[in-house]
Amino acid sequence: MIDPWGSSSLDYERLVQQFGIKPFKDMVNDLETPHWLMRRGIIFGQRDYGRILKAIREKKDFAVVTGMMPSGKMHIGHKMIVDQLVWYDDHGADIYIPIADMESYSARGVDFETAKELAINEYITNYLALGLNLEKKNIHVYLQSKNPAVEDLAYILGKRVNFNEMKAIYGFNGSTNIAHMYAPLIQVADILHPQLEEFGGPKPTVVPVGVDQDPHIRLTRDISDRFKSQFHFISPSSTYHRFITGLTGGKMSSSKPKTAIFLSDSPEVAKNKIKTAKTGGRESLQEQKELGGVPEDCVIYEMLLYHLIDSDKELTEIYHNCKNGTIMCGECKNSTAEHLLKFFEEFSKKREKAKKIAVNILDK
Ligand code: TRP
Ligand code: SF4
Repeated sequence: MIDPWGSSSLDYERLVQQFGIKPFKDMVNDLETPHWLMRRGIIFGQRDYGRILKAIREKKDFAVVTGMMPSGKMHIGHKMIVDQLVWYDDHGADIYIPIADMESYSARGVDFETAKELAINEYITNYLALGLNLEKKNIHVYLQSKNPAVEDLAYILGKRVNFNEMKAIYGFNGSTNIAHMYAPLIQVADILHPQLEEFGGPKPTVVPVGVDQDPHIRLTRDISDRFKSQFHFISPSSTYHRFITGLTGGKMSSSKPKTAIFLSDSPEVAKNKIKTAKTGGRESLQEQKELGGVPEDCVIYEMLLYHLIDSDKELTEIYHNCKNGTIMCGECKNSTAEHLLKFFEEFSKKREKAKKIAVNILDK
């Protein structure tokens, strides 16, 4: 079982086979301008992405929905979602960004006031600073608890979902609180509401997420079928990206500060943190010269791959130089730290500007 509120290390290949997620790489060549996260295999899986390809190609309406649970600080891994949203905005999507304050209340005990503050000062600020123009008309950011269309739809959909089903999907039991049991239905409504008549009617919709969210996606797709005759929903598509590795080698997690580079870190702090990261280097320089490093198993390389190097050519060079033992980890770490420093110097300026805009986004 994949538990969206827990954490476990995941074997992506197995997930693809076991849960019927299809590989994304088959889609990459059909896109004229695939995102680097797509080209580089970081987005590894999809369901029904063909519909989205077609909408992009034929310049038809389509929606993107991806939410965030306001429960802590954003780390650099969260940047991946925003990077994708910027790409979808460039490709003509209608974008919906629910802030899951009902979910964080029921599953994490975060009160609504705190959630709203986090939403503005962390999420909305960072999204703006990462280049997503939330002031645009096609981009809709909302708090779940303040969106009657979503709440009404969730209630309506709840009529055809029962406890046994929720138990089987999420492992809920007799002592799970009822608000928590209801939270997934709110998320289902987040994903389906852009297809209601008042939001322009049925349209292909894609939900880009980490694979921990797949239980919600499967539930949404099932429920959309059950209500097909009433709402004419098109079953939503999804994509899945890999998680970024934490500095210590496990998962990067906001609740374990030692593992994470936060988007609100100062440039110096970010730079010093990356220097502590686990590499794919060998025991000794001698050994590394002979055998080469293991970039596949290196947090430094991953940072370059996911975030810091635009050019595929430059990245390939680093990969080969690592593999054949011509660069050593010390040097590689230092140059990555410089890249990161530069990124954060620019980003922290953008964050300052974004703060002023962020306070108005929820009321736009
Ligand atoms: N459950 C998601 C999380 O834990 C947040 C979320 C809420 C979401 N609504 C959504 C994700 C709709 C994708 C689509 O972060
Ligand atoms: Fe990682 Fe660079 Fe060392 Fe290779 S040389 S293992 S990419 S730090």
